[in-house]
Amino acid sequence: MEGARRERGGRIEVRGLTKRFGSFTAVDHLDFDVEPGRVTGFLGPNGSGKTTTLRMLLGLVRATAGTATIDGHRYRDIPNPLTVVGSALEATNFHPGRTGRNHLRVQAAVAGVPDRRVDELLELVGIPAAARKRAGGYSMGMRQRLGLAAALLGDPRVIILDEPANGLDPEGIRWLRGFLRHLADEGRTLLISSHMLSEVEQTVDDVVIIANGKRVAQGTVAELRGHPTAYVRTSDPERLAEGLRRRGLAVTPAGRGLRVTTDDLATVGDVAHASDVAIHELRSEQTHLEELFFNLTESEEFRNRNLLAQAGDTGPSAPAGPPTDLPPPSGPPIDPALLDEPGPDARDEQTARLDREGGAR
Ligand SMILES: Nc1ncnc2c1ncn2[C@@H]1O[C@H](COP(=O)(O)OP(=O)(O)OP(=O)(O)O)[C@@H](O)[C@H]1O
Ligand SMILES: [Mg+2]
Repeated sequence: MEGARRERGGRIEVRGLTKRFGSFTAVDHLDFDVEPGRVTGFLGPNGSGKTTTLRMLLGLVRATAGTATIDGHRYRDIPNPLTVVGSALEATNFHPGRTGRNHLRVQAAVAGVPDRRVDELLELVGIPAAARKRAGGYSMGMRQRLGLAAALLGDPRVIILDEPANGLDPEGIRWLRGFLRHLADEGRTLLISSHMLSEVEQTVDDVVIIANGKRVAQGTVAELRGHPTAYVRTSDPERLAEGLRRRGLAVTPAGRGLRVTTDDLATVGDVAHASDVAIHELRSEQTHLEELFFNLTESEEFRNRNLLAQAGDTGPSAPAGPPTDLPPPSGPPIDPALLDEPGPDARDEQTARLDREGGAR
């Protein structure tokens, strides 16, 4: 892409951002930063408030409280915003009877971008031929790529994509990963949402995780993953532990087995063999990040209340349980600074909510 980014800027700041729909709090005092030159994943289960947050950031929904700014400016105060911020939100509708190319040309005209750039972008996102067909017949993946091209029209330094990996096949996800990396390497700021960690874990540098509109964790992927660990169960744990420690590996007892700080299962097997003990189980453990996200998506505790509530009932507006209520991770220990501690009132509301639910059962 022409015009490699040299200029600084493109920092997103979200402070105390809150959105209430009636008595329902969809986004709840959210704070996070997104840095230029990095791909930041904005992760959370279905209904956790990702799209609502991005819509506030893009000035499409008015915040109930708090601010979301780009280089200190609210979106609506940015002159000619399409040249600063490009975005593709979920369920972007393209007129079915219009070709993808014409669709982009209309948007280009609005943004004051020459038609030439439309063809460049279609080439770049890999749909130059398909874009001459009517958008009504596009697959999900083609729509995603067209949305991406639209987001890039104004050569923006901030790019905000809602669920860009949704509907992409593994090859498409790999392509997207390379594409986003390239954009970040040019110094652009990338904020991409996803409800699936596995779709974006290898794509993003930083993550902000939310549940029920509240931030649950943030940090670099490496920090949140922690050290890789293996779990091993054997006929003689003490003897194996001794052999592993002699190899310089950290070993701790874990249930009926041992946890070893390594991602190298072969070494564990070799040490067992050399120590003359039988292995009954040997596997890599989930990283802390996988475990954290799994707990958010699997536990009813963190499910979106609108998904649980009866039709027409938006449920109580009490916030979700604090992250410290997650089951203790079986994986490696993690720096507590990366997890968000709930305030004392969150604990009270949590207790109150559990009481209410307990009474209802
Ligand atoms: N206009 C609205 N009126 C009332 N409730 C809304 C409105 N928009 C969103 N919500 C509710 O706010 C919550 C958060 O929705 P949002 O679309 O932001 O979630 P999400 O994290 O993007 O979910 P998904 O992964 O399914 O895309 C949901 O419970 C949703 O029903
Ligand atoms: Mg969404």
